[in-house]
Amino acid sequence: MTTVNPFVEIVSTGRYLPDRIMTNQDLESIVQTTDEWIVERTGIRERRVAPPEMTAAYMGAEAARIALERAGVTADGVDLLIVSTATPDRLLPASACDVQALIGASNAVAFDVIGACTGFIYGLTVAEGYLSTGRGKITLVVATEKMSSIVDWEDRTTCVLFGDGAGAALVRKSEGERGILGTHHQSDGKLAELLYRPAGGAAIPVDQDVLRDRSHFVKMAGRGVFKHAVRAMANSSIEVLERTGWEVDDVDLVFPHQANIRIIEATARYAGLPMEKVFVNVDRYGNMSSATIPVAMDEALEEGRLKPGMNLLLVAFGAGFTWGAMAVRW
Ligand code: ACO
Repeated sequence: MTTVNPFVEIVSTGRYLPDRIMTNQDLESIVQTTDEWIVERTGIRERRVAPPEMTAAYMGAEAARIALERAGVTADGVDLLIVSTATPDRLLPASACDVQALIGASNAVAFDVIGACTGFIYGLTVAEGYLSTGRGKITLVVATEKMSSIVDWEDRTTCVLFGDGAGAALVRKSEGERGILGTHHQSDGKLAELLYRPAGGAAIPVDQDVLRDRSHFVKMAGRGVFKHAVRAMANSSIEVLERTGWEVDDVDLVFPHQANIRIIEATARYAGLPMEKVFVNVDRYGNMSSATIPVAMDEALEEGRLKPGMNLLLVAFGAGFTWGAMAVRW
């Protein structure tokens, strides 16, 4: 294992999950599905659903407040606030500005990163670049997703997969060995239409036809996404280990994007990572897009599973397609 000095480290994390639990049994009364089908194909048993009045910015702000408090940093000490979301409360302005206003990060530059499920990893990399060039000292990376607002509750092939929630990480310049040691990122826009929202943007603004076709909701070619997700996450994991000078055995804990237990297991198998080292909570939250990794890290810390000195592998795949992996010493 080679030793590199990291530029930045994750100092603290936070998470926010809405109280309301929607079980697979609850879904049986909404669409034609069964608990058995959902568990067998996805590993998901329940997910959180935010009430209509709860915004993505609110959930992100709650997660951010916890991360700030744990780091002993006040909101006005944040230089850069990055929000990753596929479910902005409004299309203009950026949700980062809404989170900024809610937490009072009045000295921060605030903008969004749209990387779908890979958005948290992309956000960490933007933070790393910003901080390592001396533009600031403290960055908050917030991933917040109100997926319940963009799924089609009449489409059983998608609505059973997603959930709402937010996670946050406070990032600052590393003083020692803790931090981001290696990254790998990739995107492929040619495959955008395997997972997207056809209407509702500037190309096809919402009108009566859109509402009738329900084309402002998420559309997904599940099998195609599955195949690409496994291949991309496994390759990205292998690539980042190589770049970092780590062997598979050097990895202590893996935080994969939590979309589906079968994707997680197949990725681990192809990358040669034993499942005992893989953190899984998709059964309780479903796919919270970019919020899955920070929520998982925060839970692992609380459970005492994530410990100082551990070598972590973060890996994600999402709409775009986007994907990436990160090697982190905790
Ligand atoms: N309940 C019951 N039956 C269902 C449901 C449901 N919720 N959804 C689909 N079915 C039916 C289909 O209609 C189909 O019926 P048919 O054979 O009569 O036509 C049958 O189940 C099989 O459907 P498939 O789509 O072939 O099932 P598959 O085994 O591929 O599983 C799934 C579907 C779970 C969506 C899978 O393809 C998958 O996980 N894909 C990845 C999608 C994903 O995770 N996307 C998240 C965003 S990207 C990311 O985060 C990585």
